[in-house]
Amino acid sequence: MHRRTFLRLLGVGALAPWVSGSLRALAYATTRFRKADFGDDFVWGAATAAYQIEGAVREDGRGPSVWDTFCSRKGRIKTGETGDVACDFYHRYAEDLRLLRAMNFGAFRFSIAWARVLPQGVGKVNPKGLDFYQRVVDECLRLGIKPWITLYHWDLPQALEDRGGWTNRDVVGWFTDYADACTRALGDRVRHWMILNEPLVFTAAGYFAGFHAPGRKGLKNFLPAVHHAALCQAEGGRVVRQNVGQAHIGTTFSCTPVDPATEREKDQRAAHRFDILFNRLFVEPALGMGYPKGFKALEKLEKYLRPGDEERLRFDFDFIGLQNYFRTVAKKALFPPYLWAKEVPPARRGISPENITEMGWEVYPEGIYRIIRQFAAYAGVKQIVITENGAAFPDERVGDAVHDTRRVRFFEQYLAQVLRAKREGAPVAGYFAWTLLDNFEWAEGYRPRFGLVHVDFATQQRTVKDSGRWFQMFLGER
Ligand code: FCB
Repeated sequence: MHRRTFLRLLGVGALAPWVSGSLRALAYATTRFRKADFGDDFVWGAATAAYQIEGAVREDGRGPSVWDTFCSRKGRIKTGETGDVACDFYHRYAEDLRLLRAMNFGAFRFSIAWARVLPQGVGKVNPKGLDFYQRVVDECLRLGIKPWITLYHWDLPQALEDRGGWTNRDVVGWFTDYADACTRALGDRVRHWMILNEPLVFTAAGYFAGFHAPGRKGLKNFLPAVHHAALCQAEGGRVVRQNVGQAHIGTTFSCTPVDPATEREKDQRAAHRFDILFNRLFVEPALGMGYPKGFKALEKLEKYLRPGDEERLRFDFDFIGLQNYFRTVAKKALFPPYLWAKEVPPARRGISPENITEMGWEVYPEGIYRIIRQFAAYAGVKQIVITENGAAFPDERVGDAVHDTRRVRFFEQYLAQVLRAKREGAPVAGYFAWTLLDNFEWAEGYRPRFGLVHVDFATQQRTVKDSGRWFQMFLGER
């Protein structure tokens, strides 16, 4: 069927006037590549996470998660906000998926909230919780969008945190039971599964530094959380392999190319420790290489290993999900402990404000190329998918438009570097923009806006930004 007829049938034909003449001129003036350059099989999607968009935290039997608890504690979220309503995706998913389709994306990455499926984390499945994800999957398939599911994007059921959360080795059994419930329910229609989202971030920010849920601190919490997350990463993969025919299984990592601030040896060593922690800690055990050596504090991980664990940490992932936003320039420092290194912020390195995002992150397009090359160099990595990449800028809505020119440029520049890596032979098979909608950005609240679609949180009105229109045009090209 002709695409326009198809879109009209879906009720999104009215969105066609988005493509304004001026934007077309802007895009063609700067974009030096085309969708076809990435190949016909390349997957194009937008990524989201349950707690950041769903809201409806007390509906249909959902249990509380560590993020509900964390948000209710004073001072934990910079703006004092919560994910109680977020983008109200729980009720508006059909409208939002139509927007995704109208932007010509072929895939949607979302996560399942463990506490909707198992309100107490374990035990009896809550059918209403699973029904919601059935509806989301149905709607995706109806629109011709491929669902890509993340099993865990940071929202552990509070009932499990009360039993020690990620520091308790029992989490491996809790997690595999949960993975079993999800894949039994959805595995007949969903092929693409990601086990964990950025295990380093939820263990380091949640169990070492304490600025993310559940707000615990110290090496004694961090190390067992790391080991149990690494075990879940592999054991979860095995559950999906068993329950889903023709599964395409991955897991995702936050990653950043690291440069030493100076040539001095102490800074080079600082950069090396950053690289181990940020880029290598979780992928190497999955590849059967064990935990990386050369970082003293991490050698204590041994203490948590039981006989047979090294082998259990290994899993044959079909793809590795890379999530890159910035680079890190590292310098030896007296804080934080164990890492003894800190990042030199971009402003201090003379990076112009134009190239620093709302998060304080440097716009460094070459970083995504470097990190793809770094991961592609592992013998066991078969395929790479960029599962998140994007930027927060101070967007303004003017009438029914958001002229987020800086974000359009960001995507163009980063995508050019993804293409560069692909042309040089790296097995990059897809790209997911972070993110579909402006949403709840964890401890930062709703202030940083990363969406392709602007959300007015007072009215829940959606406005497609120029970056969303840019994707519509770019992906609509044949
Ligand atoms: C990643 C997270 C995602 C979002 C982006 C900005 O680390 O996976 O949920 O917060 O950063």
